[in-house]
Amino acid sequence: MIGVLVSGEGSNLQALLDAGLPVCAVASSRAGARALERAGAADVPAAAFELAEYADREQRDATMANWLQEQGVRFVVCAGYMHLLTGRFLERFPERIVNVHPSLLPEFPGARAIDDALAAGVETTGVTVHLVDEGLDTGPVLRQEPVPVQPSETLIQRIRAVEHRLLPEVVSDLCVR
Ligand code: GRF
Repeated sequence: MIGVLVSGEGSNLQALLDAGLPVCAVASSRAGARALERAGAADVPAAAFELAEYADREQRDATMANWLQEQGVRFVVCAGYMHLLTGRFLERFPERIVNVHPSLLPEFPGARAIDDALAAGVETTGVTVHLVDEGLDTGPVLRQEPVPVQPSETLIQRIRAVEHRLLPEVVSDLCVR
């Protein structure tokens, strides 16, 4: 009953699958995303909803929400999903959409959070799992874990490792509630 929204590599999707969580649908904003191959390998129904094929974001999101609900989705996880969700999508899954983000929000929202933390010269950054609203990485925080920036050469891998542990934990907690 979990639907996962993706745009790229899908390593967080893989972490959810490996944790044995009941992922029943994967929706991608990009047809060529590696995440779609991961869904296929796990025999999970998957589809791409590319913005260019719709009149606007509202229409794309309505079609995507319909498809997810047809697959039985009750809970949505944004795992590397690079688009904002419109209000009409959020209304379909109220308080049941989470996102994983590679910083300690509200610090460094947006698509370049790790680069932004490095450029700012902070000692500590981290990972946040939060509920999604219409803003850019602004919904209520559910869980955070700090990650030291140094050594910076391995920062991305260390952040990913925390994401891959934290996201399945939080999703699992929310699903059994
Ligand atoms: C992750 O760092 C996630 O926090 C961010 O985008 C990245 C996606 O990685 N929103 P993946 O597609 O799950 O491998």
